[in-house]
Amino acid sequence: MNSMNILAPSILSADFWKLGEDIASVEEAGCPYLHIDVMDGNFVPCISYGMPVIESIRKKTDLFFDVHLMIDQPERYVEEFARCGADLIDFHLESTKDPERTIRLIRKHGKKVGIAIKPYTAVSALKPYLHLVDMVLIMTVIPGFGGQSLMPECLEKVKELRALLQEMGLEMDVQVDGGIKADNVHLALEAGANVIVAGSAVFKNDIKKNVQDFHKAMNV
Ligand code: DX5
Ligand code: ZN
Repeated sequence: MNSMNILAPSILSADFWKLGEDIASVEEAGCPYLHIDVMDGNFVPCISYGMPVIESIRKKTDLFFDVHLMIDQPERYVEEFARCGADLIDFHLESTKDPERTIRLIRKHGKKVGIAIKPYTAVSALKPYLHLVDMVLIMTVIPGFGGQSLMPECLEKVKELRALLQEMGLEMDVQVDGGIKADNVHLALEAGANVIVAGSAVFKNDIKKNVQDFHKAMNV
């Protein structure tokens, strides 16, 4: 029933001294996606990285760039992120007064659209937008930091979303992000997620081995 399973390594946990090398490792290990977390210090407490980093890695890799915007009023920057090389732009429902306009803007720039919700936002709040997007991101930790523990109650929301999508006759990617490891990824897949973000569990120690462990657990 679900679409293909995909591991999307989050470079938030990469070693920025050797970012290019770390990205090459996940690419060589067979990952098609790169998850790029942009934080503004307002929507979430941290500040991560932005356009210049995306622009320079875009020149060196053909990986699909899944750009997760954790910023207030993301519509202000859609054009810039599209220009820098995003393939999909993921924004938070909680971060904008006009989600529909934000979706239209992302489409106007020819990019795929993802809509994300934080752990305490109800799945039902997504309903008016589901027919307009390519992917839904259900956060499985409070956004803002890598290396946190999975909140299992968020996986219930993944199940709820899959049921809602089915009821609406929609089929799309459902992404989870936060606290996913090779030994708990089966829980996310069973709940109905098919795009799996993992940061700390991929970019520590042996990156290629970590990706292999995920892929094995995900039947990829
Ligand atoms: C957290 C970010 C995540 C983060 C996940 O706000 O959205 O993408 O990198 O990190 P892990 O996999 O370590 O929980
Ligand atoms: Zn993320």
